[in-house]
Amino acid sequence: MSGLIKSSLARKVVMALSGLFLVLFLVLHVSLNLASVVSPDFFNEASHFMGYNPLVQFVMQPILIAGVIIHFVMGFILEAQNRAARGVGYVMYKGSANASWVSRNMIYSGLVVLAFLGLHFYDFWIHEMAYKYVEANPADPTRYYVETVEKFEPIWRTLIYVVAFVLLSLHLWHGFASSFQTMGVNNKYTPAIKSFTKIFAVVVPLAFAFIAIYHHLNPITH
Ligand code: HEM
Repeated sequence: MSGLIKSSLARKVVMALSGLFLVLFLVLHVSLNLASVVSPDFFNEASHFMGYNPLVQFVMQPILIAGVIIHFVMGFILEAQNRAARGVGYVMYKGSANASWVSRNMIYSGLVVLAFLGLHFYDFWIHEMAYKYVEANPADPTRYYVETVEKFEPIWRTLIYVVAFVLLSLHLWHGFASSFQTMGVNNKYTPAIKSFTKIFAVVVPLAFAFIAIYHHLNPITH
């Protein structure tokens, strides 16, 4: 039993640390994407730098992808373990008596974000890999802005992205705060940290949604 608890705790710590790492990525990602609204030139320069810098491409990008995979694989394992531990299943489980709706449904909000990532990788990452490494096109530091804005031309893609950002917000609402709890952070700053994580969980997905809607409403006119 104690072995189970220990390994379950270890898994939760891995979950918390990989989640915090992904939160840092979100800060970088939303900042860079906001540049596509404020300064297309800066967005092009920064995207070109990220796309061709060997440290970013061959060190940071694989670490990021590993972080995403660790987070969702560990999430599935923890969910399976929790279901097995409950034994009786949902019928006897007094849902909201023990935990909030958001915290009980992390697996579902996580699955929607994962599905979004599938579409998102198809939209941007696979295209990027094909452009550079399969078609072996020459570097063009001016293409990123137009390519990004054009992605949001169809209303269906903009809507799918916005729905995914709502679920991302719910996921962060519980996940970001609880990662500090898992790490054992409990001091006079705890209430401030909790408030910060809740504000983050709303503001960052809102900023992503704003970017998607802004580009949909301001298409490139050829
Ligand atoms: C309007 C919102 C967003 C826009 C415009 C956007 C745009 C982009 C672009 C242009 C890339 C670059 C692909 C490349 O050149 O390699 C990218 C990559 C990526 N995005 Fe987003 N993104 C958005 C939201 C998100 C969100 C909410 C997440 C996470 C939940 C996310 C996760 C990723 C990941 C993991 C990558 C791969 C990074 C890499 O290794 O290159 N994105 N995105």
